[in-house]
Amino acid sequence: MTARVGEGSTGPKTAEADKARLEAIWRATINKLKEVVREYEITQDELHVAGDFLDRLGKAGMCRSLIDVALAMTSVEALDVAKGGTRSNLEGPYYGTHPVRPNGRLFEREPSPSASLLTLSGTVYEAETGVPAAHARLDFWQADENGHYDRAGNHLRGVVFADDAGHYEITTIIPSDYAEHDHDPIGELFRAMGRTNTRAAHIHLKVSTGSTLRLTTQLFLPTSSFLERDYVEGAVSSDLTLFLIEQEQADAGEPRYAATFDVFLGSEAT
Ligand code: BEZ
Ligand code: FE
Repeated sequence: MTARVGEGSTGPKTAEADKARLEAIWRATINKLKEVVREYEITQDELHVAGDFLDRLGKAGMCRSLIDVALAMTSVEALDVAKGGTRSNLEGPYYGTHPVRPNGRLFEREPSPSASLLTLSGTVYEAETGVPAAHARLDFWQADENGHYDRAGNHLRGVVFADDAGHYEITTIIPSDYAEHDHDPIGELFRAMGRTNTRAAHIHLKVSTGSTLRLTTQLFLPTSSFLERDYVEGAVSSDLTLFLIEQEQADAGEPRYAATFDVFLGSEAT
């Protein structure tokens, strides 16, 4: 396969292949869009409304988000074929470089009293052999109890390593449904279509062994009201939805909820 756009070129041959691939993708995209213009008899005025919308979307810094909402799961599914193991899911627009959390706590500051603390633990296995993946690297990031990501810092973001037996554990909070688009062009578009613009609450996870990224996925929270109508179609599935156990006796500051999620690493890197 030729290098993918954005993966960088290593020589003149690859640069030529990149150019050819980019041109083929551009032509295919425009041809599909021309079909839409013909089918819906879209006027030039309507095309300009679309252009103005894209200008607003760019100014709001939301182009990545809309592309993710519309297309990322299709890319995940196309590349996940025959990989096996835990189902992949979209990376989303808010991945960063996260600090290692030696004690497993993903906090930069004390969680707010309205947040529900959660202990998430499990074992990472090689799907094919069932052998635990000792020292696997797990990288987590998520929204807070109000559905907001920390985009300036690393609150509710962090890396932990599995132990010799492949076991990992983090302490975090239960994130809320993510509804940051109410006042941006994505919200405007979804409202205009009579649809909601909310993501079901989730925790992002990347798992690597050695220097190889093996899995990018999301774990969904059963507390979400949007599991059936996440605006990223096809993202939510029951195999990626956590089962929460409530600890009746939790002291203040102690996790009230616990969940287990075992990870099975498929045959190919993502
Ligand atoms: C997310 O996974 O957090 C996400 C995906 C698409 C748009 C916005 C957020
Ligand atoms: Fe997310």
